[in-house]
Amino acid sequence: MLKKHMKKIKKTAKSITKKRAEVSVKKIIQEEKRPIPAALSEEEEQLIVKGPKGKLPSLLRGMKDVLPKDWPHWKKIYHTAEGIAEAYGFGYLETPVLEEASLFIRSIGRGTDIIDKEMYVFEDRDGTRVGMRPEFTAGAVRAYISHGMHTLPQPVKLWSFGQLFRHDRPQAGRYRQLHQFNCESFGAHDPAVDAELIVVAYNFLRDLGIETTVQMNSIGTPEDRQNYLVELTGYLRIKRSYLCEDCKKRITRNPLRALDCKNESCRPTLEEAPQIVDWLSEASKNYFMKVLEFLDELEAPYTLKPTLVRGLDYYTETVFEIYEDSVVEGQQSALCGGGRYDLLVGELGGPPTPACGFALGVERVMTILRRKAEENKDKVEKPVGGVFFAHLGEQARRRTLKMIEDLRRDGVVLHHSLGKTALKAQLELADKFGVAYTLILGQKEVQDGTIIIRDMESGIQEIVDQKKLKSELEKKTRV
Ligand code: HAM
Repeated sequence: MLKKHMKKIKKTAKSITKKRAEVSVKKIIQEEKRPIPAALSEEEEQLIVKGPKGKLPSLLRGMKDVLPKDWPHWKKIYHTAEGIAEAYGFGYLETPVLEEASLFIRSIGRGTDIIDKEMYVFEDRDGTRVGMRPEFTAGAVRAYISHGMHTLPQPVKLWSFGQLFRHDRPQAGRYRQLHQFNCESFGAHDPAVDAELIVVAYNFLRDLGIETTVQMNSIGTPEDRQNYLVELTGYLRIKRSYLCEDCKKRITRNPLRALDCKNESCRPTLEEAPQIVDWLSEASKNYFMKVLEFLDELEAPYTLKPTLVRGLDYYTETVFEIYEDSVVEGQQSALCGGGRYDLLVGELGGPPTPACGFALGVERVMTILRRKAEENKDKVEKPVGGVFFAHLGEQARRRTLKMIEDLRRDGVVLHHSLGKTALKAQLELADKFGVAYTLILGQKEVQDGTIIIRDMESGIQEIVDQKKLKSELEKKTRV
């Protein structure tokens, strides 16, 4: 009897496994057959291949090219970031541009502008909802958890540099592809950590010649905020008619977010709103006071800004933003924003881990560096790194390529124009490049193994042996 029963069970199990296998195979076949992407009409296909008639390819709104003329600033920002991050013991972290959309939604929070209006979200080919990273913090937390970094000695300090995407309303200082220099510190709830991060951001800007002030606030713990939110909601309800449509919705959805509304018409009402500092517990107040004491010690100038709450949901206690000093108040946008987020690692499924960090907007820093370079244009000395190589005559032209190659291998930065034949045209080009010296190779020089070095500032020319060219250039371009 029992044997018969077992036989029946085995048969049923076999048929279930077979059916399951058939279903999975069918699913794989279906997925592979999925049209990629959905089929386009003949007309649409033509429009994509050939483009609309008479229309030049254009840059997408809110996107920006980094041109060769901007590259020196860009490089300076990157190297300053790298230098300071490494000096303070941060390790480099590179996370993917695409992550599960839910990672950002759970971290930054529904009701924030970034999630509700700005994140680029789409369905990937396998049906996963993915988001293009609008910030680094969520990805850094995901990486901290998934690589088990809580087992490393704490704090774990990570820095990142790269592009992010926010479908923001394009205007000065607001782009849809932006870059940030980002630093995070995991595993320590210590006012010294908050202060150190602020000082890293402040010193980075100071090293780039940008004078700034830090705006500081504390938004306490969720417990501190409970009573405050009741008070704030009451206030916003009374003032409802003075608020924009978005803020009206925020009253019930996420009242704290009303405080970072970008709408000018809401400003006067929000400035008068109850302030969170009055609702902080003794522990939160003490913590905040200690952060400020460290900043005093480190001589980082700051002001208190009781209305500062930041536009992301994950913050607890310390929040800060950094602004350039010389810009008129009210017209400025923050160069840097950050704060403590002690609950996020736990909320995303990791072990409870306090954390704190900041992000600096690279494009906004670039704008200031460009403005400063323009202001100091007359004071800037001509670059001495680059050299122009001019040729005269066919024989010299043929020789030039080989000599350029040898000089490049020796580390000399060279410009040239093999297409131009007239010396005058080549010297004009050398002038445009702003090089300090031009090398001139004519037929005579090819034959006697020499070359002319022309000082572009004074016009003085000197003939040197080709074999001594490298050492001569080194002597001249040494600063
Ligand atoms: P955030 O305030 O959203 O913070 O951005 C930081 C900085 O990125 C801003 O101060 C600004 O300089 C720059 N930025 C933001 N949006 C744009 C835009 N559309 N165009 C150009 N620049 C922009 C965060 O991203 C947080 N993840 C910072 C953080 C790290 N908190 C803790 N750790």
